[in-house]
Amino acid sequence: MRLITPEHPLIKHKLTILRDENTPQPVFRQLVEELMTLLAYEGTRDVAVESVPVTTPVASTTGVRLSEPLPLVVPILRAGLGMLEGMTRLLPTAEVGFLGMVRDEQTLQPTTYAKRLPEELSDRLCFVLDPMLATGGSIIGAIDYLFERGAQRVTAICILAAPQGLEAVREHFADRDVTVVVGAVDEGLNDRSYIVPGLGDAGDRLYGTI
Ligand code: URA
Repeated sequence: MRLITPEHPLIKHKLTILRDENTPQPVFRQLVEELMTLLAYEGTRDVAVESVPVTTPVASTTGVRLSEPLPLVVPILRAGLGMLEGMTRLLPTAEVGFLGMVRDEQTLQPTTYAKRLPEELSDRLCFVLDPMLATGGSIIGAIDYLFERGAQRVTAICILAAPQGLEAVREHFADRDVTVVVGAVDEGLNDRSYIVPGLGDAGDRLYGTI
């Protein structure tokens, strides 16, 4: 697994407001999107491009465009949905799939309750979006599923991660092409597997407690 933690003052600034328990929901949502765009900028450095001719008002030259098949973006419902807009702002032509996963609060094991992905995933760079990489269970489940469906390369983009979760992902995908891009690696997990200091429940702060 390759870990990318971009060092950027804007990421640190926005993350601090996001962590604040007094940050209101609309601001929280906006910041998740903005952080996502900054993280996506780092996470998309390896997208495949091909040369194309382009004629400017002054001369002809050669540029690049994204190669087919275009990347696939897969937010993990529900909290990953809050990151989607920030990603598609940078990659408006990307195809979007969905994985619905929920964590059992007793066993802490993730279960998948919805899947909607294109048939063919080989040759596609897949991006999994989930704001909180805590124990790693949901991200591992989601990436496993993408590999099962033929994906070869997966990049997970997260806002915060715990060292334990990153270690679990590293161990599980020792021989696979997995990259994790994360805004910050926090101290650890509490006894309910929340990231500490973290930002609380990302889904609740984005969408309310339902
Ligand atoms: N999911 C969250 O929303 N927050 C955490 O701290 C851990 C998992």
